[in-house]
Amino acid sequence: MLSIAIDGPVGAGKSSVADEVARRLGILHLDTGAMYRAVGLAVTDAGIDPADAGAVAALCEKGGAHVDVRYENGRQITLVNGRDVTGRIRTQEAGTAASQVSKLPQVRRMLVRRQQELAKQQPMLVDGRDICTVVLPDAPVKIYLTASAEARALRRMKQLEEKGGQADYDAILTEVNARDHQDMSRAVDPLRQAEDATLVDSSDLDFEQTVQAVLRLVEAAHV
Ligand code: DC
Repeated sequence: MLSIAIDGPVGAGKSSVADEVARRLGILHLDTGAMYRAVGLAVTDAGIDPADAGAVAALCEKGGAHVDVRYENGRQITLVNGRDVTGRIRTQEAGTAASQVSKLPQVRRMLVRRQQELAKQQPMLVDGRDICTVVLPDAPVKIYLTASAEARALRRMKQLEEKGGQADYDAILTEVNARDHQDMSRAVDPLRQAEDATLVDSSDLDFEQTVQAVLRLVEAAHV
């Protein structure tokens, strides 16, 4: 089965690059961050504090945060407890809840299992933080996509400005560094480059150049 595993820190352009690479290869893209966001949303919808590890674990154990994905015209639809939450998971609130629930082993076990099942059924490009290390350690193509914290903060600032928002570079850089620290210092399945993953540093690459760099690695793997 063709699986392509991509890990990397926040703001490296993983999701958009992964989407485009998968589209050009004619395979599905599984955004695993969306699944953690969906659990975060299920938790806050149930009136539970995402930092309350015991209550979150209890909710998962009784099946109250059941996440699934399906595809419509090649686009990922994320469901929690049967409800489509594809739009709602993009809020800041869901992102914050996701970063808290993603620290918990019960949540990770539940989602890793589901991600492995999905990747077994069809060729997929899967992106996240622990895909090369935990979810698909035997994937024929493994990539660590990153960029310097400064380059990621600059991109984020431009995105916000394009949307007409006010953006403070120093504040964004501090946030990027804090998210890196959180993802990389987590006790369970922290973000790190797998030994056999190829590094793609997109600091000095534009979107198309990054897509091409990933496609070249897929081609070189002869899968
Ligand atoms: O990539 P994202 O911002 O949508 O991810 C949301 C959160 O989920 C983020 O805090 C990192 C976490 N995450 C994770 O722990 N493991 C993954 N495979 C994907 C995301």
